[in-house]
Amino acid sequence: MTNKLRYFVANWKMFGHLNSVNSLNKVINFKKKNKKTKNLKIIYCPPFTLIHPFIQKLKNTSIMTGAQNCSFTSKYGPPTGSINAKMIKSLKCEYVILGHSEKRAKGEKDNIINKKIISALKCKLKVIFCIGETSIQKKRRLTKKILLSQIIRGLKKVKNKKNILIAYEPVWSIGSGVIPKIEDLENTTNYLKLFLSNKMKFKNPKVLYGGSVSPKNISILKKITNLDGFLIGGASQNSDKLIDIIKKTFN
Ligand code: PGA
Repeated sequence: MTNKLRYFVANWKMFGHLNSVNSLNKVINFKKKNKKTKNLKIIYCPPFTLIHPFIQKLKNTSIMTGAQNCSFTSKYGPPTGSINAKMIKSLKCEYVILGHSEKRAKGEKDNIINKKIISALKCKLKVIFCIGETSIQKKRRLTKKILLSQIIRGLKKVKNKKNILIAYEPVWSIGSGVIPKIEDLENTTNYLKLFLSNKMKFKNPKVLYGGSVSPKNISILKKITNLDGFLIGGASQNSDKLIDIIKKTFN
């Protein structure tokens, strides 16, 4: 592990209620008191209902907040139940997760993800763009092809890549307790970074890994030095586990 900036994105999925805000105290104290956390960015992505309370709670700390989705349009309008990037940004929220496989599984296609990314960037949100292959695609050795196609389609007509982080999340590893083989993950990360800089004109591509990251496997995952951080689902809802994960990445 180097001293470079590392991202720890806590994806709370459809969990949490107003009282959950208090569970952030431990992480706030940890970030404030531990010098080794200086070079890391912690970003909480709670459900929409908790974005505002989280932002209030995290005010005057260096911990940031993100949403888990946004509409494909930033115009106000009738789609009942939708929330757009402008609304999210108005809360002083800084990030949004887009292209998550749990949304893709419900029919979200690359062209819609592309519109969402454009809309989010236009509203000055930073995008955590998730890509990943299913287990069938992996078995058929289609991983690289799928990842490239998700990137190319998702980033169509996106010129400025500065505010985009790529989160590689193999679908088969999300919530399953299974993580990729270290050499596979290292290769994929290298491959993605080369493609992002050479073909997609990223200046300094950042690639995070997500899928069953836990205090148990982080000591293995941290050995992949070309990764820029982690997108953590289940384990991130427990402050002790999140702190444990972060601590174990320290030298
Ligand atoms: P997990 O989820 O850590 O619970 O596997 C990761 C994610 O879905 O972003």
